[in-house]
Amino acid sequence: MLSSDVGHIESLRQWVESETGMDLAGTRFSRLKDAVEAVLQRPLAHNDIPRLLAQPDGRTRFLERVTGRLTVGESYFFRNEHHFRALREHVLPQILRENEERREIRIWSAGCSTGEEPYSVAILLDQLLGRASSWRVSILGTDLNPSFLERARAAKYREWSFRQTEIHKNPGYFQRQGDTYCLVPEVRSRVRFTYLNLVKDVYPSPLTGTVGLDLILFRNVAIYLKPEITAAIIGRFRQALRPGGWLLLGETEVNLAPAEGLEPRFLDRATFHQAIAERKPSPEKSASPLLPALAAAFPVPPITVQESSPLPEWLPESSVLRQQMGGRSGTLGRVAEADAGRRRRVGTAAPCSDHCEEGDSKVWEQIQRCLSRREFAGAQRAIAGITDATLRAAIRLRYTRELWAAAEIDRARSMLDVCLTENPLLIEAQLLKASLAEEAGDLAAAERYYRQALYLDRKCPIAHFHLALVQQQNGHASAAARSLRTTLKLTEGNDPHALVEHGEGVCYGRLKELVLLLTENQA
Ligand SMILES: C[S@@+](CC[C@H](N)C(=O)[O-])C[C@H]1O[C@@H](n2cnc3c(N)ncnc32)[C@H](O)[C@@H]1O
Repeated sequence: MLSSDVGHIESLRQWVESETGMDLAGTRFSRLKDAVEAVLQRPLAHNDIPRLLAQPDGRTRFLERVTGRLTVGESYFFRNEHHFRALREHVLPQILRENEERREIRIWSAGCSTGEEPYSVAILLDQLLGRASSWRVSILGTDLNPSFLERARAAKYREWSFRQTEIHKNPGYFQRQGDTYCLVPEVRSRVRFTYLNLVKDVYPSPLTGTVGLDLILFRNVAIYLKPEITAAIIGRFRQALRPGGWLLLGETEVNLAPAEGLEPRFLDRATFHQAIAERKPSPEKSASPLLPALAAAFPVPPITVQESSPLPEWLPESSVLRQQMGGRSGTLGRVAEADAGRRRRVGTAAPCSDHCEEGDSKVWEQIQRCLSRREFAGAQRAIAGITDATLRAAIRLRYTRELWAAAEIDRARSMLDVCLTENPLLIEAQLLKASLAEEAGDLAAAERYYRQALYLDRKCPIAHFHLALVQQQNGHASAAARSLRTTLKLTEGNDPHALVEHGEGVCYGRLKELVLLLTENQA
């Protein structure tokens, strides 16, 4: 190997590390080379790497394929039996008791691989609630490997997926077809799967269904990640949980210091972390009265990772941080700046509009007080008393997000309805309505709301993108391909580091990457 090749592989390592948050030093380095050669389907040749890195579009697909090879998809039903015992005997019954009034439970399996983990939870809930139950069960499985997600959606498994359980022998759950076990549709339909890279994508966010959750499972995912990246991911999970929500960590993740705002709970040898209710600092203390409070209370820790290439395109531009870091380091930490924008849209944070002035913070404080005491009627009265229609709409949207973050989904939905009745031209409200419908599995309604958003602004890239996702789920492949092409066109000519409007913190570079990935996966 020429010395220039060694240099190329080293710069590839640094680039992959900065893009994925993985630690590829030491012996893992040879895994990277193996992964690259597996993707190329031949040994590395001289100048392969500079050629690959010089093609922005091809580079994205190449990176995702390499990442897929570097991560392991090993999973099986009821893996770590003690985790599921603790879920069945302690955690899920407690959540069901707490949510008795709203009869809804919302769970996220982050890094779900081929679906065994979220389906195991769906089976547990089926056993606890009964099949005819009126509870709304929403289970989200996400992963960065599209082929795992495809297999998860198919819900067909071999014997090896049941190495710690006999559940496949229960015809109420699995129907045998030769040597394959097919999960029954009643349970399968309770889980939806979507692409989400925990290092690059935006969460918590209504658009990704990752707000106001009762339970998050994060097990056996962080094995190759740098510890500081895993800690930042856990910090984001804290923001995605409702107060009192639970996080279940795998053996790989459990030794990492838990984020502020999470308290460990040891149940039956399983380590859970529970989100404690936060104390919100007084808004007067923040620089901008309605830029709160929680942005400071739950900062994503600043993380710096060596980086040799320019800023990844999925990161928002941050001139200040760039200056501080000499433009050469960072990954999740630099997302902090996007957080300010995203938090304006995510429940526990700033208002969704710039219309709010200092005097209005008093109203907002009153609303928050009502919310913390669950005096919803009082909060609604306070909002209805705002005379300025634009401000009232902005506060309604902000309140909607707070309700969502507290898992008060029905109330959030009603607030959006009022908001849209008063102000039907509010595109953000249409997008939020669409997300709620999507989460509830009402894809026809979701498509309608995304189209209404596009009726208000036909150049809204985020509406085209999410419309494509819904069309894909509906099996309308050519319509989805058209929507993706439109999204791609709308990303062109924009600064890749600039935030996409209504994108909850996603920037143009990442949106483009996502479109390319989905387009390729669809082809
Ligand atoms: C070993 S499997 C674990 C599956 C399941 N959680 C379990 O414990 O059985 C790890 C999964 O994490 C996914 N993964 C790794 N890094 C990820 C990331 N940055 N974002 C999303 N998923 C990731 C991999 O694709 C793989 O499917």
